[in-house]
Amino acid sequence: MAKKHDAAIATEIINQFGAKSEMLVQVLHAFVQRYGYISEDAIRQIALELNLSRADVHGVVSFYHDFRTTEPGQHIVKICQAESCQAMGSRELTAHAESKLGIAMHGTTDDGQISLEPVYCLGNCACSPAIMIDEKVYGRVNKDQLDNLIQDCGANR
Ligand code: FES
Repeated sequence: MAKKHDAAIATEIINQFGAKSEMLVQVLHAFVQRYGYISEDAIRQIALELNLSRADVHGVVSFYHDFRTTEPGQHIVKICQAESCQAMGSRELTAHAESKLGIAMHGTTDDGQISLEPVYCLGNCACSPAIMIDEKVYGRVNKDQLDNLIQDCGANR
């Protein structure tokens, strides 16, 4: 995933949606897919090319929690916070992950290896508590398994 803003690629993405201001949410999703986050440079360029103010774009970015504005870690660990997983201990698992990684939800470790994020149902409720690391979903995850999965991310913890 390219992380650095590239004005030509950004224009290409914006043009895929006809450079129309009503397509702002779709444009932002496309940026997240491409870069993993929406940088300040991206916000500036999107505003300019969609003929919006930066405040307009910021407003939409901050409304959706899917739109992160900081560069994500190499690996993204998402822990389900929805009802079924909560009933099966996802809160305790989250607290364990936060303490193990030394970061809070939405944070990224200092070495840039891991970002921790909440997610609200991974469609794996029968195997709660569920987590997702990068694109892979894991079910019935306990603290030891989480530690092992984090270790497999190459994180020295
Ligand atoms: S509630 Fe966690 S996977 Fe559905």
